[in-house]
Amino acid sequence: MVTRRSFLSATGLLALGSAAMVLPACSGARGAESGASAASSSSASSVAEAASSTASSELSSASASAAVSGSAESAAASASAAAAANALVLYYSRAGENYGVGVIEEGNTSIVAKMIAQKTGADIFQIEPAEAYPEGYDECCDVALAEQNEGARPAFAQDFDISGYQTIYLGYPIWWGDLPMCVYTFLEAHDWAGKEIHPFCTHGGSGLSGTEGSIQSTCAGATVLEGLSIAGTTAQNSRDEAQAAVDAWLG
Ligand SMILES: Cc1cc2nc3c(=O)[nH]c(=O)nc-3n(C[C@H](O)[C@H](O)[C@H](O)COP(=O)(O)O)c2cc1C
Repeated sequence: MVTRRSFLSATGLLALGSAAMVLPACSGARGAESGASAASSSSASSVAEAASSTASSELSSASASAAVSGSAESAAASASAAAAANALVLYYSRAGENYGVGVIEEGNTSIVAKMIAQKTGADIFQIEPAEAYPEGYDECCDVALAEQNEGARPAFAQDFDISGYQTIYLGYPIWWGDLPMCVYTFLEAHDWAGKEIHPFCTHGGSGLSGTEGSIQSTCAGATVLEGLSIAGTTAQNSRDEAQAAVDAWLG
């Protein structure tokens, strides 16, 4: 049996390939968990910790240098290190089989997230679902669609304290024209008042699909700025092109 995955985009119905249908054996097992996250409120991942310690050492070295020389250049370095110190790249991404890229070891959004962290010096944290989505593309699509239809809020594996960050680069793949439901779980678990959110996504053709508006509605009190969308195939296979898009977006 053959099925065609179709996703609704801002410009209409977008067909995204066809693949052999596998009955969604995983969807029943995963189901649509709802309610509170299984997360511990503890700490960042080691990636975030490493990034954080890098950010703080950059901050102190830039500040020290400005104090010594008093030059405009050093002051600018200090300001940019200070900006990096309260910026966070927060993202969700899934490795495995995906649209147009085959089976990938690193998710498309993860590649873009790391480019942003590298360029800005921001800390980085990946939202992981408590229960992994199926590795297969079709099976994952089935589970994700069921979750969306049910308004599920799948638990995330580990929490991250975003309270000290002013600027958040929020990254996600487009799933059925929306954010993955587990991203909503994370967003709804935190206070976004006064923060600046810069959304970025990877996708199979739909672009941002109006997700900036969904983020604005979900994150009360935040200012949501213009988003960046990069095709997943570009992030995965044309890194220079993806990097150029990131650089242009960051300005
Ligand atoms: C469950 C699921 C639903 C998807 N829905 C859409 C969609 O509605 N529109 C679209 O353009 N791409 C869609 N895609 C493709 C992904 O957005 C695209 O492959 C993205 O780059 C994946 O990012 P990741 O590797 O970081 O998870 C979907 C992919 C999956 C697995």
